[in-house]
Amino acid sequence: MARIGVLTGGGDCPGLNAVIRAVVRKGVERYGNVIIGFRNGYQGVLKGSVMELTPESARGILHRGGTILGTSRINPFRVEGGMELLRENLEAYRIDGLIAIGGEGTLGAAAKLAAEGVNVVGVPKTIDNDLAVTDFTFGFDTAVQVATDAIDRLHTTAESHNRVMVLEVMGRNAGWIGLYSGLAGGADVILIPEHPFDIDKVCSHVRHRHERGHLFSIVVVSEGAVPIEGSLEMPEYERDEYGWPKLGGISTMIAEQIEQRTGFETRVTILGHVQRGGSPTAFDRVLATRFGVAAIDLASAGRWGRMVALRGPDIADCPLDDAVSDIKRVPEDMYEVAEVFFG
Ligand code: F6P
Repeated sequence: MARIGVLTGGGDCPGLNAVIRAVVRKGVERYGNVIIGFRNGYQGVLKGSVMELTPESARGILHRGGTILGTSRINPFRVEGGMELLRENLEAYRIDGLIAIGGEGTLGAAAKLAAEGVNVVGVPKTIDNDLAVTDFTFGFDTAVQVATDAIDRLHTTAESHNRVMVLEVMGRNAGWIGLYSGLAGGADVILIPEHPFDIDKVCSHVRHRHERGHLFSIVVVSEGAVPIEGSLEMPEYERDEYGWPKLGGISTMIAEQIEQRTGFETRVTILGHVQRGGSPTAFDRVLATRFGVAAIDLASAGRWGRMVALRGPDIADCPLDDAVSDIKRVPEDMYEVAEVFFG
């Protein structure tokens, strides 16, 4: 009988509870494991803040957003004496191995822990879908659905008022949410980090629509979108306590430029954390469940230092190191598909 720890780290994401439920159900009922949940990511391991997870306590959470374990961006390697504390507490709770569910930061720390000899298995998570090792991460489909619903709603009001609507969606380094929701919602322009934008071109797309009698436009902007170097002044971003820029607001600058240059009334919607909250879609529940089952299988087989991934229709696994080796960006040919519908 093994004692397996579970934690969720980084920004939350619809589907985290589905992973936890799957780990608990298969871990306890099939493998006879004891599952210990650490609260608030690695902070729970450092502070010894735990809750035992049983099939009973993991009931009724499949459809719930957020994470019953709580989350944080605490990284044990950035805390003084963090590694020693972590080892002490894993020993104190007699943890045979850890399942770390998270994105770049959490999995990066997990890879380092594995290199230090800690037994750890990773589960990739991010609504941004920018982890290179896996075709999709759970949470992405839900975020795209939320953003697509927002575009549908903006369409009707944009049309009624003859306005340009600029919608800002999440996507720090990669424009997956912007591209998918923009395509699904029929956006007239989509701006993503991979493709620095030319504000003159954006305005000419909008003008072109007006010339053809469409007196409204929808512009979807990833929060990490950037103008062509030197063409526009970027907003100054504050940094959070972990050094990440607090993105958000590029759309306001873009909207001002569109209104000034075209003379068309332009409004901004910043979708923000609405994209990360609420119930996961069916796709995300299924993917998260498959990841959870695969993670407890790896842990039970003692295949430490690995993480689960979606490859085509299959759940595969790969070394944890691969998780953070590269960011998965939107390829040029996919952006070209979106460009067909610009203007
Ligand atoms: O990494 C996921 C993400 O959703 C990014 O797209 C976004 O910039 C970030 O989280 C915001 O997270 P928070 O506001 O929780 O710091």
